[in-house]
Amino acid sequence: MIKKVAVLGSGGWGTAVALAALRCGLDVTVWSAFKEEIDNILAAGENPLLKGIKLPKELKFTSSLDCVKDCDMCVVAVPSFAIDEVCGKLAGVIDSSVIIVSISKGFDKVNCERLSQVIERYLPENPIVVLSGPSHAEEVALAIPTALVSASKDEAAAVMVRECLSTDKLRIYSSQDIIGVELGGAIKNVIALCAGICDGMGLGDNTKAALLTRGLREIARLGVAMGARKDTFTGLSGMGDLIVTCTSMHSRNRRAGILIGKGNSISDTISQVGTVEGYHAAGLVNKLAEKYGVSMPICKSCYKICYENGNPNEEIMKLMSRPNIHEDEGVSWWSVASEEE
Ligand SMILES: NC(=O)c1ccc[n+]([C@@H]2O[C@H](COP(=O)([O-])OP(=O)(O)OC[C@H]3O[C@@H](n4cnc5c(N)ncnc54)[C@H](O)[C@@H]3O)[C@@H](O)[C@H]2O)c1
Repeated sequence: MIKKVAVLGSGGWGTAVALAALRCGLDVTVWSAFKEEIDNILAAGENPLLKGIKLPKELKFTSSLDCVKDCDMCVVAVPSFAIDEVCGKLAGVIDSSVIIVSISKGFDKVNCERLSQVIERYLPENPIVVLSGPSHAEEVALAIPTALVSASKDEAAAVMVRECLSTDKLRIYSSQDIIGVELGGAIKNVIALCAGICDGMGLGDNTKAALLTRGLREIARLGVAMGARKDTFTGLSGMGDLIVTCTSMHSRNRRAGILIGKGNSISDTISQVGTVEGYHAAGLVNKLAEKYGVSMPICKSCYKICYENGNPNEEIMKLMSRPNIHEDEGVSWWSVASEEE
């Protein structure tokens, strides 16, 4: 039975999920490694990243990691680059029965691991659940109807998270495909960056639709090669998350892409927007595509723009002038080895 929840990370998403947990009657404490962040939230009575949303006094905030000592569920909500450091602090402190719920999206920057693999490295005994899907923090915080997927190798843990966080505003489906659910959430940020670039360049709806459709194929192709189930990518954490991220101004990745598409440098863009998971993911997806021998031309173009000073116009020209093929070339579009795209 889950009663006490610790949320690690007091950013927009951590706070939004903390509010969702509070609506379920749970006892919730949000932690930040940065005391100043907590002081600012408490002084303002709101999170500056969720402007205008008053925080109820029942929602507790702390900069002491003691909050994980007696919790039943620990939600990890820091950016991908901080997961390793934060999980290092949990090892030996948190009880092995505590369910760890990863709501971050991205990859470990050193060895391209999925984030749940990083968590597992530090906390091998704990049940680990990935909660993902189409979800802007701003909307979850306002209790706008949202649907997510709770995935774990441990089915009972996935169901437990599903049951304890579901309300009539937040519908959660469970899944055993933690690999697929996690990869959909991590790689769609690369496609969202591309969607923003197209928007910044003033390209059209046709371009965006083509990008999303072919981008999803690339995500699925790599996902299947890494052990995911193909159907997961047509679900909430695949297609669902791709749609929401590529079409909304809430998405930092898309906003960053718009700036790049308008001619801003990568470094200026990142300093204006803040955490851009798609930028980090573009580099790591490029490595994974090479490792698994999977063709990912859109992600490759994104990599070139982000890391090799590639020109967006030229990259789009290259993508559009590739050899013509059947849409479902190969045995099936999920088949990795037979596809030449
Ligand atoms: N914002 C959303 O709508 C949303 C939705 C779904 C998933 N996500 C994912 O959730 C994660 C967090 O996103 P966010 O929007 O809340 O980010 P954010 O930048 O708003 O907040 C990040 C939090 O992590 C903390 N942090 C940063 N570096 C740290 C470190 N080295 N050690 C400890 N804490 C550190 C920050 O202090 C902050 O509290 C990302 O992986 C993002 O992709 C975000």
